[in-house]
Amino acid sequence: MEKLCRSVWTLGQRTSLSSGSDRGIACLAALSETHQILQKSCRDFANAELAPHARRHDREELFPAEQVRRLGEMGLMSVIVREEYGGAGLDYQAYAIGMEEVARGDAAVSIVMGVNNLYAGAVQQHGTESQKEQFLVPYTQGKHIAFYALSEPGNGSDAGAASTTARLSDDGAYLLNGTKAWISNSKEASGGLIFATIDKSLKHKGITAFLTDKSVPGLCIAKKESKMGMRATSTCQVTLDDVSVPQSQVLGSPGSGFKIAMESLDSGRIGIAAQATGIAQAALELCTDYAEKRVAFGQRLSRLQMIQQKIADMALRVETSRLLTWRAAWLKDNGFAITKEAAMAKLHASETATYCSHQCIQILGGMGYTTDMPAELYYRNARVTEIYEGTSEIQRIVIANCILNGISN
Ligand code: CAA
Repeated sequence: MEKLCRSVWTLGQRTSLSSGSDRGIACLAALSETHQILQKSCRDFANAELAPHARRHDREELFPAEQVRRLGEMGLMSVIVREEYGGAGLDYQAYAIGMEEVARGDAAVSIVMGVNNLYAGAVQQHGTESQKEQFLVPYTQGKHIAFYALSEPGNGSDAGAASTTARLSDDGAYLLNGTKAWISNSKEASGGLIFATIDKSLKHKGITAFLTDKSVPGLCIAKKESKMGMRATSTCQVTLDDVSVPQSQVLGSPGSGFKIAMESLDSGRIGIAAQATGIAQAALELCTDYAEKRVAFGQRLSRLQMIQQKIADMALRVETSRLLTWRAAWLKDNGFAITKEAAMAKLHASETATYCSHQCIQILGGMGYTTDMPAELYYRNARVTEIYEGTSEIQRIVIANCILNGISN
């Protein structure tokens, strides 16, 4: 905690909380002092070091290596990892705040932060001490980043139907075979978590989580996808051809992988909700500024009620997204179940990101459609928040199941 707080505090000293315009920093009164300083520091960092490079990185499909290194220095690559393992030792509220601010500056950078924290959370919770030494500590400082390989070409939403196999070989190691699809950050990652089945007839009860370095023989980054958004980061197919993984690298126990995936995705959805809120906030700020400057029909756009209605609707959705996200984070930090609440936050925030970036383009008109302004980038980046870590359709299924089965706070 001290590490991030210290770096956050140092940054906070440079720009006092009360100085300058804090437009868009909402609900300060509801946050602790640490969280307020974190929010301000991440916002300043995003304004100075993320936003100015976001469009070039997207255009050139350039991995933001320097920005990720800075995230590591600030403790943002391991917000929820305890200090004894090299993490920042903060809570999910801090994680949500950091993700939102980083995404407001550059959503592509925030997906590196998000997947790394998703991975680290699972290893911290289920890993043995020696697994944490080998597969958690090196991933906390931004020097190494991790992938999380659950989806497959034939099974995205139906995670329980994994067909990548893990077979025990004569030398006692597991041999992994199959193809994983749409794996974020896998090109730059040093290692990660792979889900495979030890017995397909057991359905989800056969799924097992394996920790591995990326450099192991047989693991290949087969295809880098060409994407609509988040183009500064890689999304690849990962093929596994007799990849040997010792039993000591099974995370949890054989057959517990599906539960590990579901639990870690519950927490991960707080991060995606925060990311989507950050994109929506950026879109709202951009079109509000534009509406105050641009003149049409003899007056500023901001004087037109049609525009005011759009701004009001956007602001309402951004704030409800933030509050749902912070509620899920608070519940997680206080030991409550979050399956329904994280799904609600992710569903609402990701649809808000799409809505706000769409409305932002409408308000900017022709300017919004060109790459001279970042509105079109917000729109392209927003779309995937409705897809990864569970589509909007899956979130609705999860929410309905929780309500119908009485699993609710
Ligand atoms: N926490 C703990 N356990 C859970 C759980 C949760 N949130 N959800 C389900 N389970 C348990 C159930 O209790 C049940 O346990 P038992 O066998 O002991 O009874 C078991 O898991 C099976 O549950 P279901 O029958 O509900 O499972 P299902 O097969 O119907 O699937 C699902 C449920 C919600 C659709 C799930 O498959 C799912 O979440 N799919 C989406 C997958 C997803 O998010 N993929 C994203 C890929 S990762 C990614 O995008 C990362 C990246 O790179 C950015």
